[in-house]
Amino acid sequence: MENPVTVIQSVKLDDENSKLILLDQTLLPNETVFLELTEMEDVWDAIYQLKVRGAPAIGIAAAYGVYLGTKKSNAETFEALFEDFKKVKDYLASSRPTAVNLFWALNRMEDRFKSEEGKSAAEVKAALKEEAELIRAEDEKICESIGEYALSLLEPGMGILTHCNAGTIATAKYGTALAPIYLGQERGYDFKVYADETRPLLQGARLTAWELQQAGVDVTLICDNMSSIVMKEGKIQAVLVGCDRVAENGDTANKIGTSGVAILAKHYNIPFYVCAPLSTVDLDCKTGEDIHIELRPSEEITSKWYEKPMAPQDVKTYNPAFDVTDHSLITGIITENGIAYAPFTESLPKMFKK
Ligand code: MRU
Repeated sequence: MENPVTVIQSVKLDDENSKLILLDQTLLPNETVFLELTEMEDVWDAIYQLKVRGAPAIGIAAAYGVYLGTKKSNAETFEALFEDFKKVKDYLASSRPTAVNLFWALNRMEDRFKSEEGKSAAEVKAALKEEAELIRAEDEKICESIGEYALSLLEPGMGILTHCNAGTIATAKYGTALAPIYLGQERGYDFKVYADETRPLLQGARLTAWELQQAGVDVTLICDNMSSIVMKEGKIQAVLVGCDRVAENGDTANKIGTSGVAILAKHYNIPFYVCAPLSTVDLDCKTGEDIHIELRPSEEITSKWYEKPMAPQDVKTYNPAFDVTDHSLITGIITENGIAYAPFTESLPKMFKK
């Protein structure tokens, strides 16, 4: 029987009713609610509010979104339809800045649109639907392949630390950093997984712990400031994380707190792996300096999740949603085409040529 978690589809297209179906990740683990969205404002909001989140899932949602938004257009000519497409594309592109998959998926949809030049509006819409479905289907295979490469680096019984959620619900299926854990689970690897809670939005506590527990994986939830002690106590043999954008030199943006984990892993001599679909590798960013880091509202730190505010009113806050892990701290970047090792400036471009 297939694992009950890896069958969950967090992003789906209901083409018959022109709806985008999203698992509302903000309500987990308490409620499992699927949203049915028809308006582009709601798709934008779902991305901004992290109802759909995780770089690959954001890309898939944007691809379906731009298809559904274009499908609504009454334009009859190729040129007029393209104008409507561009409006939806630019609008969705403004929802979150860091995960490159959003822009990657939207650009891929634009390329497909342009390749249909000369076709009727109905034909172009059908092509957009096909492309969005392809993006979803390919992601499933990509995650599986990342999982196999990552698993080749691991031994049964290992303790693995992960940060944020790079699991099934952040992708089409299996996840990236959690993919080897699911594959290992099927093969009796008996990993002991430590999930950082991931302040301030608690993706580790709410999503990773929820996914792994339901899948029957041995998972232990820790606060972010406990990763040092579990490493020191010898409980961790590898760190696996996902990513939102990898620069050409290997510098990697991922959920805030990731770079601290990497620094600790280096200190304790623990391998630190980034699981990265090539759709998250942005060779146009030369280094992490080029990556735009999203800043989010204060209340995520001061009052969200609490019955009463847990900080003085109007206290100044700084809430970057991501940080950049320096390439020197990364043992390997695991892609669907193989594992890239330093120097990443040489190894990463080669991954695209396989
Ligand atoms: O703000 P989020 O929850 O979208 O951030 C998600 C992450 O940082 C994930 O690690 C990353 O997108 C990889 S998901 C396979």
